[in-house]
Amino acid sequence: MNRNIAVDGPAGAGKSTVAKRVARQLGLVYVDTGAMYRAMGIFFLERGLSPEDEAGITAACRDAEVTIAYQDGVQQVYLNGENVTGRLREEAVGNMASRSSVYPAVRAKMTQLQQSLAQRTPVIMDGRDIGTVVLPQAALKIYLTASVEERARRRFRELEEKGEACVLSQIQQDIRERDYRDMHRETAPLRQAEDAVQVDATDMDIEQVTERIVSLYRERVPQVAQREQEGK
Ligand code: DC
Repeated sequence: MNRNIAVDGPAGAGKSTVAKRVARQLGLVYVDTGAMYRAMGIFFLERGLSPEDEAGITAACRDAEVTIAYQDGVQQVYLNGENVTGRLREEAVGNMASRSSVYPAVRAKMTQLQQSLAQRTPVIMDGRDIGTVVLPQAALKIYLTASVEERARRRFRELEEKGEACVLSQIQQDIRERDYRDMHRETAPLRQAEDAVQVDATDMDIEQVTERIVSLYRERVPQVAQREQEGK
């Protein structure tokens, strides 16, 4: 049966942190789809393309091959054979990913890759359109959100820990703009699927969110709970 989990929500809600933990607890493979859009972003930046150049980006899609592999259970992203995992979190890459992901050619390519991954193995996949477009038959759909202020504070702390200079009000502004773009694009905008469960993580910690998703999954997919109890 279908054991997949789809997790959607705005940037900085904690989707990837939580999804990795849920994956470990439930024996699912974690797939970070934002990383795939980011790899495409690196390719467009390397080609010197402007994010406004839809025709150029659409044509360039033909020359970009994004593939995924796992090393010690951690997702590695390859762009035309080169491992680009270490560059995915750069701000310029995130911005290009957000801007270029509005184009249907980019989305079609990434959706196909994501669907073929989910056909091979049960996954927990996070992104913006997983419950609505990529895995509409997922066994459980989560819409994970948190207030803009809280998401900006978390990002601020993350950057501070890395020793990167940052301004909280600027981060808030970037998050607002990214939310707007992700929610208002024509193709596959971020929205909560009708059958998704909304989890607002503003006042919840990572453990609480993880537990909530794991218990929802065990209710929905009782065979999994049964097998775990039997120690299989
Ligand atoms: O989740 P993230 O911040 O790594 O994603 C980077 C950008 O990629 C995000 O701003 C929008 C885009 N994206 C998307 O359009 N659809 C997805 N399923 C995942 C990410």
